[in-house]
Amino acid sequence: MGVYNFMIITIVMGLGFQARTLASQNLNCNPKDMSALQDFMRGLNTVVDGWSTNFSSNCCMWTGITCTSSSSSDDGRVIKLELGKKRLVGKLSDSLATLDQLTTLNLSQNILQGTLPQSMFHLPNLQVLDLSSNDFSGLVPTSIHLPSIQILDLSRNSLIGNLPSSVCDNSSKLQILNLAENYFSGNLPPELGNCSSLESLSLHMNDLTGGISEGILWLRKLTLLNLQVNKLSGPLNRGIGNLTKLVRLDVSSNGFTGNIPDIFHHFANLQYFIGHSNCFTGSIPSTLSNSPTLNSLILRNNSLEGPINLNCSAMISLTSLHLGSNRFSGPIPDNLPSCKRLTNLNLGQNNLGSLLPESFKDFHSLSYLSLSNTSTYNISSALRIMQHCQNITALILATNFHDEELPADPSLHFDKLKVLILPNSRLTGSIPQWMGHSSKLEFLDLSSNRLSGKVPIWIGNFGFLFFMDLSKNSLTGEIPKSIAGLRGFIDRDSSLEGPSPDFPFFMRNGSNARDMQYNKLWSFPPTLDLSYNNLSGHIWPEFGNLRKLHVLNLKENNISGAIPSTMSGMTNLETLDLSYNKLSGTIPPSLVKLSFLSKFSVAYNELYGEIPSGGQFSTFPNSSFQGNNLCGGDHALPCAPDDQHHSEPLDESSWSIINSGIFIAVAIGFAFGFFGSIICCNIKKIWLPWKNHYD
Ligand SMILES: *[C@@H]1O[C@H](CO)[C@@H](O)[C@H](O)[C@H]1NC(C)=O
Ligand SMILES: *[C@@H]1O[C@H](CO)[C@@H](O)[C@H](O)[C@H]1NC(C)=O
Ligand SMILES: *[C@@H]1O[C@H](CO)[C@@H](O)[C@H](O)[C@H]1NC(C)=O
Ligand SMILES: *[C@@H]1O[C@H](CO)[C@@H](O)[C@H](O)[C@H]1NC(C)=O
Ligand SMILES: *[C@@H]1O[C@H](CO)[C@@H](O)[C@H](O)[C@H]1NC(C)=O
Ligand SMILES: *[C@@H]1O[C@H](CO)[C@@H](O)[C@H](O)[C@H]1NC(C)=O
Ligand SMILES: *[C@@H]1O[C@H](CO)[C@@H](O)[C@H](O)[C@H]1NC(C)=O
Ligand SMILES: *[C@@H]1O[C@H](CO)[C@@H](O)[C@H](O)[C@H]1NC(C)=O
Ligand SMILES: *[C@@H]1O[C@H](CO)[C@@H](O)[C@H](O)[C@H]1NC(C)=O
Ligand SMILES: *[C@@H]1O[C@H](CO)[C@@H](O)[C@H](O)[C@H]1NC(C)=O
Ligand SMILES: *[C@@H]1O[C@H](CO)[C@@H](O)[C@H](O)[C@H]1NC(C)=O
Ligand SMILES: *[C@@H]1O[C@H](CO)[C@@H](O)[C@H](O)[C@H]1NC(C)=O
Repeated sequence: MGVYNFMIITIVMGLGFQARTLASQNLNCNPKDMSALQDFMRGLNTVVDGWSTNFSSNCCMWTGITCTSSSSSDDGRVIKLELGKKRLVGKLSDSLATLDQLTTLNLSQNILQGTLPQSMFHLPNLQVLDLSSNDFSGLVPTSIHLPSIQILDLSRNSLIGNLPSSVCDNSSKLQILNLAENYFSGNLPPELGNCSSLESLSLHMNDLTGGISEGILWLRKLTLLNLQVNKLSGPLNRGIGNLTKLVRLDVSSNGFTGNIPDIFHHFANLQYFIGHSNCFTGSIPSTLSNSPTLNSLILRNNSLEGPINLNCSAMISLTSLHLGSNRFSGPIPDNLPSCKRLTNLNLGQNNLGSLLPESFKDFHSLSYLSLSNTSTYNISSALRIMQHCQNITALILATNFHDEELPADPSLHFDKLKVLILPNSRLTGSIPQWMGHSSKLEFLDLSSNRLSGKVPIWIGNFGFLFFMDLSKNSLTGEIPKSIAGLRGFIDRDSSLEGPSPDFPFFMRNGSNARDMQYNKLWSFPPTLDLSYNNLSGHIWPEFGNLRKLHVLNLKENNISGAIPSTMSGMTNLETLDLSYNKLSGTIPPSLVKLSFLSKFSVAYNELYGEIPSGGQFSTFPNSSFQGNNLCGGDHALPCAPDDQHHSEPLDESSWSIINSGIFIAVAIGFAFGFFGSIICCNIKKIWLPWKNHYD
């Protein structure tokens, strides 16, 4: 009987659908609907594409409108209004309430503003209301009567006040509720528990306070719960184990304290537990470290402690494990290679006091490893072990290696390596030959070590390299001309980005301690940083070919000769720092063509003559030119012959960014993620130790 019924329903529905579409073409817009739409249009400052020309004609034919026939006449009633992503500007008219047959109202991704009209929340047939990604502000009406609603999305606006919990009072069909990325405040209201059909609840990026209230624990059908980036606090409610259907639970970037409750055996399908940047203490609970379903366990930036003890026989789905910036102690767990799917591993910034276990030789699934500042391991043995990991693509090992020499063992090989990050580690020796065999290298950071010798010519063989930071070492000799042939700086196709774990990376931006966060290494700007070394020779005219380079920093070397006029070919350059060298001649006027250049300095060289005028040059401060014999341009610097000896001290504010170079703390972020953890966790205030090195 069930099957039979189902078939009948299917057939009837099919017929109904056909009738409807046929009818739709002959339908005449109901006059009431027409007038409501005209009011709607008047509220906008823009015209709706496809409406203006047909203003007086049949509204059922307009773009974004779907009509259905009403039973009484051959009037067409508007049932769908779908105008997402249409660049609409203006306010919403109250008259939309007249469209009482509406089932779908989608005005997402426009530039609509003002408050949300009360009437819109009283549409008896509305199933989908999507007003996300607009500029709506003010309070959401308190009286809501949407008995048919299934999807309600008000995310990415500027709404304020308490969460509109009354939406749940008479909305038993609501499945998806998205109120994320607004300014909602107050507690999680218990009334949310009345949304008994809710499967997906997104409240992230608001100003919500308090704990996870009882109401939410009634939502037994929830598969997704996003509460990240709020001000929630207190212990994580044990009752959350009642939400047994959860697939994704994100409570990150709140102020949760205390132990993580040992309730993870209740979840039959949990794949993501994201709890980073809270104040969790204690150890990883055993139901969590035995979860067979968990794919990502992201707990960085908390105050968790004790040994890391995962049961890899149980954790058969674990792919990403991020425990960086905690207080874990004990050895680096040697059983991790038996977590057979583990691909991304970050244990950085803990107190794991041991050498890298020999068992890591068999860590064949491992692709990303960060062990920055984590233990007193030995760089030669770490590299000797890691070269056996056949899938390793990113190695982040920064720590204090106490003047250990970067091993030169020619038999080392990392065939698949794309990312090598070893800054600030007090490594000595020269850049070893074996690195040259990692032909897939895209990202190399060896900055702030004590490396000496030359920049090897074979660096030019890295066909994919787009980020190279060798700054703050003691490198000598010429800049190899082969760098001017690096494809990654010439015609990098940034669409070819590799996969990257959901770990944040940081790039140091100026001395104001604000770091830019990149969620992928591949979104870093193409950079060549050789500053603070002892490089000599000239800037090759061929550097002008490096069209895709964004940052070129050669500050504080011994580079002489002229600035090649061909550098105007580096059309994407944003930062060019050639200060504190021995460059002579004039500044080529062609450089005014560099239209993206926002940071520029040639200070303290042996340049003379007129500063080019126009283009970005009118925006650079005088300090960009001082310490030379330069004059004129847009800068009204007098051309007095002995001017350069009396220049003012550097203007700190305008200098801060260039002065510290574009300072990479990639590894730091990857591994550490600690900035700011002072607020509630009472974590030691950690500072970048080399930050003041040259500032
Ligand atoms: C205007 O309306 C007519 C039918 O009334 C329709 O064929 C035409 O596509 C409409 N034009 C636009 C731009 O929507
Ligand atoms: C609303 O429209 C946008 C843009 O057309 C679309 O991406 C989105 O999925 C729609 N929303 C719903 C709930 O269907
Ligand atoms: C919910 O429905 C009940 C009865 O159907 C009604 O009395 C009540 O006013 C409704 N509440 C809201 C907020 O619409
Ligand atoms: C809504 O929730 C409140 C508090 O949890 C409860 O008292 C009330 O009965 C619920 N209303 C409905 C219609 O379920
Ligand atoms: C959650 O489950 C526990 C038992 O595991 C029960 O005692 C508690 O009442 C439940 N809470 C809610 C809100 O359902
Ligand atoms: C670490 O967590 C604190 C809050 O506990 C937060 O303020 C800070 O931004 C987080 N740092 C990072 C890098 O995520
Ligand atoms: C580890 O997991 C396996 C498989 O689930 C289980 O048999 C074993 O008892 C667990 N060991 C510990 C110490 O919990
Ligand atoms: C190594 O990587 C390849 C491709 O990324 C993948 O197919 C393979 O399963 C990985 N090997 C192991 C042992 O995980
Ligand atoms: C490494 O950790 C130690 C103590 O845990 C800390 O003092 C030091 O500043 C950290 N180094 C970096 C680069 O963060
Ligand atoms: C590192 O380990 C190697 C053996 O793998 C050993 O020869 C070397 O002395 C160690 N270096 C330091 C600084 O402990
Ligand atoms: C550096 O940070 C400042 C704000 O502190 C920001 O205005 C500037 O755009 C940032 N620089 C870059 C290169 O992003
Ligand atoms: C830099 O190199 C020059 C030779 O090119 C040498 O005279 C000078 O001592 C070096 N300076 C430093 C700080 O190593």
